[in-house]
Amino acid sequence: MNNSVKKLVEAVSVDKLKADMIIIAYTGFSNQYRNINPRVCGFLKLNFAGSKTVVLRDNVKIEVPIEAIRMGDSILKIFSFPNSIEKLTRVNHKLIAALKKRGMLSFSVIKPNCTKITNTGKENNQRALRSILPKKDRQRLAHGVELSNKLVERVRSCKLQHDQGTSIVENLMDKARSGQVCIQEIENYVETVVRNSSTEAMSAIINLRASDQTYSHCIDVGVLFQHLYFTHIEQKKKRSIFQTKNQALLGAFLHDFGKSQLPKEILDSKVRFGSDSKEMQMMRSHPYFGAKLLKTMNMPDSIINMSLCHHIKMDQSLNTSYPSKISYSDLNLESRLLALVDIYQALVGKRNYKRSWTPPQAMRYLSALVGIEYTPEIWNLFFRLMGEYPIGSLVVLSDDSMGFVMNVPKEEEDLLRPLVALIRNAEGKNLKNNTLVDLQIENNLSIKSDLDVLDILNNNALNEFSELKIVA
Ligand SMILES: [Fe+2]
Ligand SMILES: [Fe+2]
Repeated sequence: MNNSVKKLVEAVSVDKLKADMIIIAYTGFSNQYRNINPRVCGFLKLNFAGSKTVVLRDNVKIEVPIEAIRMGDSILKIFSFPNSIEKLTRVNHKLIAALKKRGMLSFSVIKPNCTKITNTGKENNQRALRSILPKKDRQRLAHGVELSNKLVERVRSCKLQHDQGTSIVENLMDKARSGQVCIQEIENYVETVVRNSSTEAMSAIINLRASDQTYSHCIDVGVLFQHLYFTHIEQKKKRSIFQTKNQALLGAFLHDFGKSQLPKEILDSKVRFGSDSKEMQMMRSHPYFGAKLLKTMNMPDSIINMSLCHHIKMDQSLNTSYPSKISYSDLNLESRLLALVDIYQALVGKRNYKRSWTPPQAMRYLSALVGIEYTPEIWNLFFRLMGEYPIGSLVVLSDDSMGFVMNVPKEEEDLLRPLVALIRNAEGKNLKNNTLVDLQIENNLSIKSDLDVLDILNNNALNEFSELKIVA
């Protein structure tokens, strides 16, 4: 840390606190904050409402809102204070006495000679903190800006490609319904997507706009599967079961090809079918129809299995698990991953009969199904690559600014702290240049909540994202 940073933010014990210092984090506590009892839990929730905390729970460090702490947690840090609790952050003699009494032992503070900065508004304060970032953090931020702008550029150039894929799938299914199967067009499309390495950018598009339940669903599932699968294979230096990347993407695009054997009225229905209805029985046959059709086309087993197995769940007594004759334990990693991607897309894609879920809501929902619908192993793989806040999620930071999530933190980093490109500042004003916040280095900020892009930006989220001009 360089000298100017030392001057601005400093770690101090309770005995070294001085009037007019500003506490930006509580970092050390007496024993009563280990394994907390109901009294301490209630005290913290009441007095630090709206703040964030890092706790040790079951030997794992996690960051949670103070409202989510539980008995038995050990408190490691309290930070990201709302303005309403200024009495606990602006130091005076009364506060020092209260902190000693309560066993609050150490803090990160801004020293008095720097308080002018904090009085000029949250945004200026942020800028001032940033201007004195250590060199390695400034370099990291510059790298983040470069990567984020590249992603934006790729999303912009992939928008049309995504739409084109949707109409190719629709055309393919329509023709197959009348008995003609010609896959040349989709093979050419696969070739273009693989050649342009478009799958990461196209996966971000999934989180930025609504989709239909059949045709763009196939494109969304295909590109997300391909992106996650090959990232995993490359990171872990594993062998793919597919002969080529094209084969994997083709298989994922065709996972619902069996739906081409169902009447179009069922596929495009605006109502949800009852679980015992005739229509639902027909829907449940599509993995089998798909596998049969792909076999007649001489597709390899790796592709046939993607169609046959993508609705099989760990708990096969669930009525969402079919066909019933195949057991989850027979599924390879590829089919397990595809099945999970298929559910994720179904949650975030907009259906005619239900509202879509935000990507972070979908991740939270899916985490509750581990051990029921899929194994912890496949969930961990998926979660690690998607993140707590998938790329394109719209989030509000602790200073009330709002922005898009731009990356998934690396394996050794905190998943709750991605890069965020701001679109509105803390006062709710739209920004022309989108400041990038790297939450791994800007510890005084955190994600407060996530929003539905469709609620906030209507159908314009994808355009807003692709027009971002990201700056440090
Ligand atoms: Fe399906
Ligand atoms: Fe599907």
